[in-house]
Amino acid sequence: MNSNQKTSPSPRPFLDGLEAYVPGEQPRGGGWVKLNTNEFPYPAAPQVLEAIRREAADTVRIYPDPTSTALREKLAQRNGVEPDQILVGNGSDEILRLIAHAFLGPDRPLAMVLPTYTLYEVLASQFGAETRIHKLIDLERLPDSIYKGDWTACFLPAPNAQIGTAFPIRQLERLANAGGLLVLDGAYIDFAPGYDPLKELKDHPAVIHTRTFSKSFGLAGVRVGCAIGPKPLIAALHKLRDSYNVNRLSQAAAIGALEGADYYAARCAEIIESRKMMTRELEKRGFVVPESHGNFVFARRADAPALYEKLKARKILVRYFRHSGLEGGMRITIGTPEENQALLDGIDAIGTEC
Ligand SMILES: Cc1ncc(COP(=O)(O)O)c(C=O)c1O
Repeated sequence: MNSNQKTSPSPRPFLDGLEAYVPGEQPRGGGWVKLNTNEFPYPAAPQVLEAIRREAADTVRIYPDPTSTALREKLAQRNGVEPDQILVGNGSDEILRLIAHAFLGPDRPLAMVLPTYTLYEVLASQFGAETRIHKLIDLERLPDSIYKGDWTACFLPAPNAQIGTAFPIRQLERLANAGGLLVLDGAYIDFAPGYDPLKELKDHPAVIHTRTFSKSFGLAGVRVGCAIGPKPLIAALHKLRDSYNVNRLSQAAAIGALEGADYYAARCAEIIESRKMMTRELEKRGFVVPESHGNFVFARRADAPALYEKLKARKILVRYFRHSGLEGGMRITIGTPEENQALLDGIDAIGTEC
């Protein structure tokens, strides 16, 4: 048969109805003030660049360590657990997908709050699981309905994504004992000093903690994250990952980042100070800004959708979500002092445009 006459075979039917996750925009070309995807605004530590250079010089022709042993050892030490309690992934998104694969499916529902990280719902649908959404009335209080525990897994960022508020540890403890698996997504944990769900729930048999190098270690571009949890659950996740899921350069970069931990801690402290300043400045400009514990703030004002577009026209990019509960505001990543000032200047200039 002529290849032009053959039709493409159909993928599995559930894909017709599946909506893909939409990541934040990565604009092309230079000149942008990019405050839309919660990246780290400062350069990499010298240890990171040196580690990548060293690794790239000789060994890129050799497969990487399949289980990221050296990195797991360092992470175990940092978090006070054993290396067998850690799985390293290609970003924490991969870790979340592995957990979804292992736990969710038809009759194995996911619970999540709203608003939260919008990827969770997509992962549930990829594995045919129903998502049970628990809307937040109070941003710092888990709704009573979630403690019913009628879910197989609950994915919860601590601090929460998009708004940046944090649920008290006692509520997380209660949730851990309420249902199936509790996944505490710690993507923003290093911007919340003194808030430590891992310490309180380290050895809980039903809790997996996730971590990423994308935010507080500035490695979003090389993709490294990890899960920390009970050994049997970590062993199950290992069975589902690609044999070589984290490449050599990424493993080396993450080890370099941990060696430069003091540098990153100092930069995170600056980001926290800038976050306080931005909260105050945005409030002065009529925004409502809940106290954030992440490297971003969520700023509500009636003109948010139009303002987002006008800022973008000036090459200042923040994140605007059309999702329920988020339409009235913009999520703004904390950048360098210059970037933060450019955003405030942009808002002021637009304010006088009309
Ligand atoms: C709550 C949360 N979890 C996980 C991620 C993904 O992190 P990674 O880059 O490690 O895949 C993000 C990214 O924005 C996030 O906001």
